[in-house]
Amino acid sequence: MRLQGKRALITGAARGIGFEFARAYIAEGAVVTLADVNGAALAAAVADLGPQARAQVIDVTDQASIDAGFAAAIADMGGLDILINNAALFQAGPVVDITRATYDLLFAVNVAGTLFCLQAAARHMMANGGGKIINMASQAGRRGEGLVAVYCATKAAVISLTQSAGLDLIKHGINVNAIAPGVVDGAHWDGVDAEFAKYENRPLGEKKRLVGAAVPIGRMATAQDLTGMAIFLATAEADYIVAQTFGVDGGNWMA
Ligand SMILES: NC(=O)c1ccc[n+]([C@@H]2O[C@H](COP(=O)([O-])OP(=O)(O)OC[C@H]3O[C@@H](n4cnc5c(N)ncnc54)[C@H](O)[C@@H]3O)[C@@H](O)[C@H]2O)c1
Repeated sequence: MRLQGKRALITGAARGIGFEFARAYIAEGAVVTLADVNGAALAAAVADLGPQARAQVIDVTDQASIDAGFAAAIADMGGLDILINNAALFQAGPVVDITRATYDLLFAVNVAGTLFCLQAAARHMMANGGGKIINMASQAGRRGEGLVAVYCATKAAVISLTQSAGLDLIKHGINVNAIAPGVVDGAHWDGVDAEFAKYENRPLGEKKRLVGAAVPIGRMATAQDLTGMAIFLATAEADYIVAQTFGVDGGNWMA
């Protein structure tokens, strides 16, 4: 029960990694607000997790939605100790085909969403003795990928925001750090696989098989492989850790 009495908000938590983080936090004793733009999926997700789970429909691209959603979640939980900035979108394609619309959308969700949710949480935490903020970066933020230019750039920006916000906010007792996963199995990667099937002319499922086999540990991650780091960074044991991005990737980026 390492998070007993803690109150957390996780964006993009209706499915995938965010949902597994919510489940893991609840198992450690936290009350968790799952936030997502997909209200139907969110309702189903929260129903699965019992009374320690709360739901807030928040669109991280919409400032009014962030303001109202954070205020409601903080009132409902009686405070906010932990934020996980997890909501993100992925799109692939050759550099010459990138549209303004794709660029604007991915930066709005992955970067502006991260920054302005971080800001909403930090304002509350500054007035209430501190807290922990965990941003979801990616190995994609540590180097480019030919077909993934915009997503990679957004995740590099998340690593940079983690560094700057980490340095600015630690004087208020707020630790800002990030997790950089490698390849994590789930609905998100099914979408990635479908995009590579289109652009690299592969059968569905092939990219995923190849990518999983190439990870030094020998397989893709499951969302559960990431929960240990997400819990640790939210505990007092991580109080001295500031502005860092931790790879949890089976050795993938190093290789
Ligand atoms: N799956 C991977 O292989 C992988 C690898 C590295 C990093 N990551 C990162 O981990 C995080 C979670 O990934 P995942 O695989 O669970 O993704 P996912 O696509 O399964 O889940 C993302 C969630 O974000 C929500 N969302 C999208 N736009 C939103 C918005 N505007 N406002 C609020 N919610 C919104 C979606 O509805 C969805 O529920 C992301 O930040 C992703 O970039 C994933």
